[in-house]
Amino acid sequence: MRRAVCPGSFDPITNGHLDIIIRASRLFDEVVVAVLINKNKATLFTVEERMELIREALRDHPMAPTNVVVDSSHGLVVDFCRSRGIQSIVKGLRAVSDFDYELQMAQMNNSLAGVETLFMSTNPQYAFLSSSLVKEVARYGGEVSGLVPDVVLKQLRERAQN
Ligand code: PNS
Repeated sequence: MRRAVCPGSFDPITNGHLDIIIRASRLFDEVVVAVLINKNKATLFTVEERMELIREALRDHPMAPTNVVVDSSHGLVVDFCRSRGIQSIVKGLRAVSDFDYELQMAQMNNSLAGVETLFMSTNPQYAFLSSSLVKEVARYGGEVSGLVPDVVLKQLRERAQN
């Protein structure tokens, strides 16, 4: 069984994340989307909300993959991999600016547990996209449709009104 994890904060999931998850699901028998909990980072959505948004976005997607599961973890991504028999981490790379830190993490994770990291080039359509920018634009009433799944769009609009 070839298993991969797509780890991240997913606060919230964007269409860029979704594109990577769907593409990874075609390469592996199972893909686990792991919402990593960082207690030092304030988030807009709770872990449960983030997981549910990912699940709904996958359900609504035209490809609706059946080999993707959603989970969460408090600790190191390599410990999550060990406990679930996951051999690979899949990450999207938007630009060269992502590369330095991603390479560092990939090398650390490989040295800690022999886990491989595979980088997938982000769809150019979403190269400028990040959860933080989406939240900022939405907070000030900007248009983020087409950048996030519809379920996320609905939640962002509701929160912007409150
Ligand atoms: O979506 P993000 O915030 O860019 O994702 C970063 C994330 C969660 C993938 C990264 O911070 C991570 O792997 N955190 C888990 C803790 C860990 O394993 N840290 C050591 C990485 S070498």
